[in-house]
Amino acid sequence: MWNSISSRNMGTLLVVCVMLLLGRSRGSFNLTSLTFTQSYSPLFSDFNIIRSHDDTTVSLLLNRLSGNLTYTATIKMPSKYTAGIVVAFYTSNVDTFEKNHDELDIEFLGNVQGQPWRFQTNVYGNGSVSRGREERYRLWFDPTKDPHRYSILWTPKHIIFYVDEIPIRNVVRQAGMRGDYPSKAMSVYATIWDASSWATNGGKKKVDYKYEPFVARLGDLVLEGCIVDPVDQLQSTNCTDRVAALMAKDYSTITADARKSMRWFRQRYMYYSYCYDNLRYPVPPPECILVPSERDMLTNAGRVRFSGSRRRRDRRSKPASHQPAAR
Ligand SMILES: *[C@@H]1O[C@H](CO)[C@@H](O)[C@H](O)[C@H]1NC(C)=O
Ligand SMILES: *[C@@H]1O[C@H](CO)[C@@H](O)[C@H](O)[C@H]1NC(C)=O
Ligand SMILES: *[C@@H]1O[C@H](CO)[C@@H](O)[C@H](O)[C@H]1NC(C)=O
Ligand SMILES: *[C@@H]1O[C@H](CO)[C@@H](O)[C@H](O)[C@H]1NC(C)=O
Repeated sequence: MWNSISSRNMGTLLVVCVMLLLGRSRGSFNLTSLTFTQSYSPLFSDFNIIRSHDDTTVSLLLNRLSGNLTYTATIKMPSKYTAGIVVAFYTSNVDTFEKNHDELDIEFLGNVQGQPWRFQTNVYGNGSVSRGREERYRLWFDPTKDPHRYSILWTPKHIIFYVDEIPIRNVVRQAGMRGDYPSKAMSVYATIWDASSWATNGGKKKVDYKYEPFVARLGDLVLEGCIVDPVDQLQSTNCTDRVAALMAKDYSTITADARKSMRWFRQRYMYYSYCYDNLRYPVPPPECILVPSERDMLTNAGRVRFSGSRRRRDRRSKPASHQPAAR
């Protein structure tokens, strides 16, 4: 179904193919920008590649805000030794709302050679950084072999994270979430960064630059939604139709079959969910729907420890917030 989205020519639809690359030498970055500029100049004005001052982050961002969106791309992860590396695919408005930002994350965590990549999803609303909503998973394929599609759908009713065509997490908005449910327009980002302090084995395995450059290949990037002016936060057009169209998409509804796939995924590949973490949340947050089979599985697998603060990959490269980091 995602193929059909990207082949249709819609107003806000962007299809680009970019390569993100993390390496410390000047040469590597030079290569990135050349590749990007040469190949994707028609869309260059929409995207920026931003490199942090300490050389540990390379980001791609679409410099427009969107409220109600689908953000999707294919990504092929760097291979070989990738401990400490995080490839993040996310939406955020931290640049506009430093104290009460919203954010939706898919973060891929590298590993030592021979060990699989893992990934986590997270949801923040109105600065709820002290109430992380992390879930962690394994993948059922090797993400370094081929590009796979990763997607975030965000509407006023629910948030769905997809891997390929499988919904892996569905957050249905509950009144009890209040501001914790993202409600302000966000920008979209894709980033590769050095998260040596926490990403792999609780930070015991660091990035080894002997293996640079680390290349994550992004393709088939699509953003659908209602574009909002970044300065005055006003919707630039009447978005009623656009939002209605988004809500009417087949991927905006989880069908019975999709629900089955989601259950299949979660029961086999999820290894941490905040909903079942009684130590952290004696009362599960309001959106949690507890599934006995998931609980049994996660109880057997043990608890993932959370602590510390995570280095942010803010585009201005300053620490923007502190949030619990999954270890
Ligand atoms: C980029 O690469 C070219 C050719 O390899 C080199 O001449 C140039 O100095 C490099 N620029 C930077 C900023 O490193
Ligand atoms: C999302 O769409 C709904 C319905 O059109 C609208 O009320 C809401 O303001 C939109 N949200 C954002 C963040 O733009
Ligand atoms: C969001 O945060 C701001 C600033 O902290 C606060 O004034 C506002 O009431 C919050 N909104 C919701 C819906 O919780
Ligand atoms: C936006 O468009 C819808 C349908 O096209 C229309 O019913 C509505 O009145 C419009 N809203 C504004 C504020 O123009």
